[in-house]
Formats: sequence, structure tokens, C-alpha cells
Amino acid sequence: MDRIRIRGGKPLSGTIAIGGAKNAALPLMVAGMLTDEKLTLANVPRLADIETMASLLGVLDIGIDDLNGDGRVLAIGGAIGSNEAPYDIVRKMRASILVLGPLLARVGEARVSLPGGCAIGTRPVDLHLKGLTQMGAEIDLEGGYISARVAGRLKGATILFPQVSVGATENLLMAATLADGRTELLNAAREPEIADLATCLIAMGAKIEGVGSDRLVIEGVPRLHAARHTILPDRIETGTYACAAAIAGGAVMLAGASAAHLGAVLRTLAECGVEIEERPDGLMIRREAGLRGVDVMTEPYPGFPTDMQAQFMALMAVADGAAMLTETIFENRFMHVPELNRMGARINVHGASAIVRGVAALSGAPVMATDLRASVSLVLAGLAAQGETVVNRVYHLDRGYEALEAKLAACGAAIERIR
Ligand code: UD1
Repeated sequence: MDRIRIRGGKPLSGTIAIGGAKNAALPLMVAGMLTDEKLTLANVPRLADIETMASLLGVLDIGIDDLNGDGRVLAIGGAIGSNEAPYDIVRKMRASILVLGPLLARVGEARVSLPGGCAIGTRPVDLHLKGLTQMGAEIDLEGGYISARVAGRLKGATILFPQVSVGATENLLMAATLADGRTELLNAAREPEIADLATCLIAMGAKIEGVGSDRLVIEGVPRLHAARHTILPDRIETGTYACAAAIAGGAVMLAGASAAHLGAVLRTLAECGVEIEERPDGLMIRREAGLRGVDVMTEPYPGFPTDMQAQFMALMAVADGAAMLTETIFENRFMHVPELNRMGARINVHGASAIVRGVAALSGAPVMATDLRASVSLVLAGLAAQGETVVNRVYHLDRGYEALEAKLAACGAAIERIR
């Protein structure tokens, strides 16, 4: 199994290219299931999760063509040959649940394994299932599978989410585009990846109002058609490399990054003492003076993203003063804490909050994490630590970061993959 070795203490200097957003690409690939024609997606990132989604679409017998042979432009769509999403694929990636709504909308029947994914809490799928039930689906859970069917087309419905869910909003949005009549999604998630999905669905012929708001109104149409869509830049990858520049010190240009969807993260970094400059071609991140501790609470968009909490915690571990990080989205998202503490951090968890008391220096250690963002937080800590850090279980990183070690090494970090 691959590992990543880092010798800390080198400031960063150079340019890092930001790729297409993983969390937009995954639902957009699924959107290809909604048409008999082809949805062409450009700026697809090359990630393990994208490969997993491609194999899932393959198992469902949906056409997927790699137009340039480099995995960056995919054409998806056609007849659906199978309606069963098997455990072996779904367990690797929770976003697999997104095929449920489109399968019901296109073929009226689906068998989808209950998902696994990152070990960050219980992460149920009840909101997905309740919404589809309101749209007329009959759903049974048996043998670890969701069995769902609908007689005829799904029916438009008014769905009020009791809790904001990115995935449930996406699943029901896609299902509603082909439903009979009008669907209203209330208290919908407002993440930029959902607006990207809605924009693409509209290009495919869907009728959607309220894009970017927490109230989406969808007028169902009988069919969707071909379209071409370019995936927006990854705000979490951007935020992660901004934290890398901040923790290591130096100056890094994040090429292709956009500040538009990073308000809460950039404001927080600025409060910590990080300099951020918006340029026409991206974001320049600079950190010369010391870092200050700043409190943060994760929230649905436009709040501070839970997917940036672990990286920000690594930064706060070496800041001047204390910081309180409160996690309100997932109940078990502090698995990086014991590993950061093994590197000399002083972090205590009390319920949903972590108190981080900044230390003058971290020390390198062998570490391991059990989810994607936790793993990358250990890489960031390694960039700042004295001595050598070896991050094990690199496959978590490969799910969401393309060429992580190459991008950081090109900016002067002493980082390499050990195969
Ligand atoms: C998506 C992102 C993930 C991010 C998360 C929150 C993708 C592929 N993944 O995950 O990176 O961390 O949003 O921003 O886009 N919940 C329920 N019942 C449900 C669904 C969710 O109780 O049916 C709960 C979850 O357990 C969690 C909260 O709602 O506590 C938010 O989850 P959700 O927004 O659905 O996250 P995902 O779509 O899985």
C-alpha cells in the first residue's frame, strides 16, 4: 500500500493548478443517466472516486466515453442496461446513492446497496428515501439493499428537508427533472456544486427555478437531451492548498481557483494572518508573519465547510493562541485529532468542539487516517513538522486529491510517494 513521506520545514513557492470539483463531478456524471443522448463533461478531475463512479455507471450499462483518452472529458448517457448498484462498488463511495433517483426516473425500478463511504459518522440516507417516497416510489430495505419501484413516472411533490443535505438535494433534484408535474425542494442545500448540477440540468432541458437558493422549483419534463458542461473549480482543493501555503509559509499561486465560493474559508484565513490576493487567473496565497488562532464552526454553505475542518485544525495546531473548532455537520469528524496529537499538537475534544492550543512546532511521526480530509490534514501538519512524517493509507488521499505530492513538490515541499 502506498505511503507519503514528508520532511517538514520547507516554505512553499510556486504555482498549483486547481482541478474540477470532485463533489460536482460525481453528481454530474450521474446526471448523464437522465438522457438517452450524451452529456459531455469537461474539466473532470482524475481521482479514485471518479473511477469508482465510472465503474458504477459501467455496471448499470450506461455508455461512458473518454473523449480525449486522458479522463478529462467524458461523454455519458444512453439506454440503461441494469438497475442494480452492487455493494462492492457502493461501499467504496457514499455518493453512489445518487443513482437511486435517476434510476427511478428513467426505468422505474432500482436496487441500490446501502452506502458506506468515509467513516465520519452514521450518515443515513433517510432523507433521500423519504423524498422519493413522497414522489410516489415504494421503497423496501432488505439484505442491505434499497429496493425501490414506481408505477409509471415519479410525481412532483413538495419536499421540506428537516435538515440540510447536499446528497438528498441532488438526488431529488435529478429525479424531479423527469417527474410528472412540479416539485418544490424546501430547505434545500445551497452548495455551489448543486448550482453547478442545476445549471447543467437546465442545459439538458430541465426546468428549474431558484438555482443557488434554498428553494428549488422543478417542473418535470418528459425527457432531457444532450448538453456540454464544464465542471467548476474545486473549492475544497483550493482551500486545502491555501492551508498548505499558510502552514508551511511562503507564497503559492492557486491557478484556476475562484474566491467566489470560498468566502467563509478565505475570511477565516485572513483573520489568521494569511494574505489573500484575488487575481484574474486565480488566488495568490502568502504567509510571512505568524499565524493567529481563530474559532470556527462548520455549517452548510455559505458557512465554513465541514470538508475544510481537518485542514484548518492542522493550521491552528501551530497558531499563536487557542482556537475552538466546532463541527455541526457530522458527529464523528475528529479522527485526525489523536494523530495530530501524536505529532505534538495540543488538542482536546469536548463533544462537538475541539480546543486547539497552538504549539511552537510539531514533530514528524508515522500517522494514518481513516478519511479523505483527515488524511490531507496530516500531510499539511507534516509540511510544518520538524523531521519526517509518513502518512499511511494514501488511498484516502487519492479519492479526492489529484497528484497531491507532485503539486506540493513542485512548490518546494520535500514530499514523495513510497510505493
Ligand atoms: C456531501 C459531500 C461531502 C460533505 C457533505 C457536507 C459529496 C459527494 N459529498 O456529502 O464531501 O462533507 O456533503 O457538506 O458531495 N443526513 C441524514 N440523512 C440523509 C442524508 C444526510 O441524516 O438522508 C445527515 C448526514 O448524516 C450529515 C448531514 O445530514 O450529518 C449532511 O450530510 P449531506 O449533506 O447529505 O452529506 P453528503 O451529501 O453525504
